Amino acid sequence: MKDINDRSITEAVLASMSETSNARLKAVMTSLVSHLHDFAREIQLSEEEWFAAIEFLTSVGQISDDRRQEFVLLSDTLGLSMLVTSQNNHKPAGCTEPTLLGPFYVAEPPTFHNGADIANGALGTPCFVSGTVSGPNGQRISEALIDVWQSDEDGFYDVQRPAPDGLIVPQARGRLETLADGSFHFKSILAEAYPIPHDGPVGKMLAALGRHPWRPAHLHFWIRAEGFDPLITHIFRAGDKYIDSDAVFGVRSSLIVDWKHHDPGVTPDGSVSQTSFYTVAYDFVLSESDKATESLSASVSAAG
Ligand code: BEZ
Ligand code: FE
Repeated sequence: MKDINDRSITEAVLASMSETSNARLKAVMTSLVSHLHDFAREIQLSEEEWFAAIEFLTSVGQISDDRRQEFVLLSDTLGLSMLVTSQNNHKPAGCTEPTLLGPFYVAEPPTFHNGADIANGALGTPCFVSGTVSGPNGQRISEALIDVWQSDEDGFYDVQRPAPDGLIVPQARGRLETLADGSFHFKSILAEAYPIPHDGPVGKMLAALGRHPWRPAHLHFWIRAEGFDPLITHIFRAGDKYIDSDAVFGVRSSLIVDWKHHDPGVTPDGSVSQTSFYTVAYDFVLSESDKATESLSASVSAAG
């Protein structure tokens, strides 16, 4: 193909992919190229701007390693992560809304019994967390696995504070199992607002756009139970300064909860606290997984 101009270039690129045998790849690339070309034409992208974009993406790659994923941060701050989470996790009414995973989850965290202190020395005001896990019909779910993780009072997760030898001591994270009545409870620390890592290219982008890097105080949960869809979500602290301007667009009204302040005295675990402390409670509702619905309808039709 010769004499391609700034209009016919799009058709030319699409034609060059016409033999792609993977139908999904073809659909994705066709849409991507079409939108990318329309974008460049619409804003009349200059050569300097195109080169600055290449430099920006290069620096996003260069700062990334197995501890830091700047591309995920870019996706988060552009709202793409939350868009993908939302459009792939439509929940039936009454089920707890999901939100993004974030970069600080650690697979196979330390396990705890209900009532344990998962802070393991993390700095912060004591906080007692409790709640239940149920299915959409109100049935309590026992033996659901609950992974929970949060930052300390300085806004850092344990994985952001490696020891000089590179080892990470798990703090303010852990895995619990719901009891026979679907309930859970543990002690940790008060969730505080913190800025997402902003000392790299994404931070520079936020500053150039007049945006702050802060996330409102939250506590992360990943809940798994057989026959139910896994739920990745957080609960957010009502009244937080950043509740309406989360840097990664993760807040849902249904996930905003009151963290109750208590003066020194008797705590929910019966001990006496010399300092003030907080309590927070949330009841999670999981959606039934397709497999569970299918096997339920199969057994219903077999019975009929
Ligand atoms: C988090 O909540 O841990 C998080 C989410 C997105 C970007 C950075 C941090
Ligand atoms: Fe977080």
